[in-house]
Amino acid sequence: MTCNIFYTSKKHKNYAEEIAKKLGSRTFNMIVDNEKPYLEVNDLGLSFFHPKARAKKSFIIDFNSRSMSWRLKRADHERLIKKALGKSEQPQKILDCTAGLLQDSLLFLTLGHEVTAVEQSNILFHLLEDGMKRSKENEIFSRLTLVNANACSFVREAKEFDVIYFDPMFPQAKKTALRSAQLEYLTKILEHESIKNNPKEEFQLLQLMSVNKLIIKRPINANPFGEGINYQVKGKTIRFDIYLD
Ligand SMILES: C[S@@+](CC[C@H](N)C(=O)[O-])C[C@H]1O[C@@H](n2cnc3c(N)ncnc32)[C@H](O)[C@@H]1O
Repeated sequence: MTCNIFYTSKKHKNYAEEIAKKLGSRTFNMIVDNEKPYLEVNDLGLSFFHPKARAKKSFIIDFNSRSMSWRLKRADHERLIKKALGKSEQPQKILDCTAGLLQDSLLFLTLGHEVTAVEQSNILFHLLEDGMKRSKENEIFSRLTLVNANACSFVREAKEFDVIYFDPMFPQAKKTALRSAQLEYLTKILEHESIKNNPKEEFQLLQLMSVNKLIIKRPINANPFGEGINYQVKGKTIRFDIYLD
């Protein structure tokens, strides 16, 4: 399902219409209904509002505000991801099958790699594209290709990658859902678009691709998606299952 796009100033009309065309939605030059989810274009950029989200503010991707702190906050995660990737002489070509908020992709990029990140949600894809346009991280984003697709359909046409990374949504744990308003918004967007995944089946398709390394992020105590794990990198709450070709 798509949603209406509101713009509050004439200068945003063309941009709102451009996105509406891609999403197959309608534009209005005022907020006509805030009882349903909507997208809004204003001076801050493109944002998504959901009336049932706990956060009262609408959801916007802002790489600039996070750029100073996101690495520090995720230092432990960064250590685990580095370990999962392993050392390489050359920058790696990474296919991130689950772009999400691009936080893991940003980590790969900061480590000097080249990333193709795939996001299935049309709404999230446009929010990310908008955030990237406003970002000051031009050098970093020059090594990122963002694709709007289900990664499983994309990999069939994909060229050679060194690494595939797969971080599907974890089953809804109350604690996790409470922790992050961003994660709640992500879940609401997927619900709104009626997107449901079967990560185990998707994993089996991804496994058919010939790559050196397949990295799967899982909750620490969850069952693996498949047999043949070569090694695991474990944190307190998550782990990476690594499959080598
Ligand atoms: C847990 S989040 C990923 C978070 C991301 N690793 C980050 O660091 O921000 C999962 C995201 O991947 C997307 N996703 C899940 N399965 C996918 C698939 N098969 N193809 C494309 N996107 C997928 C979901 O729509 C969601 O946005």
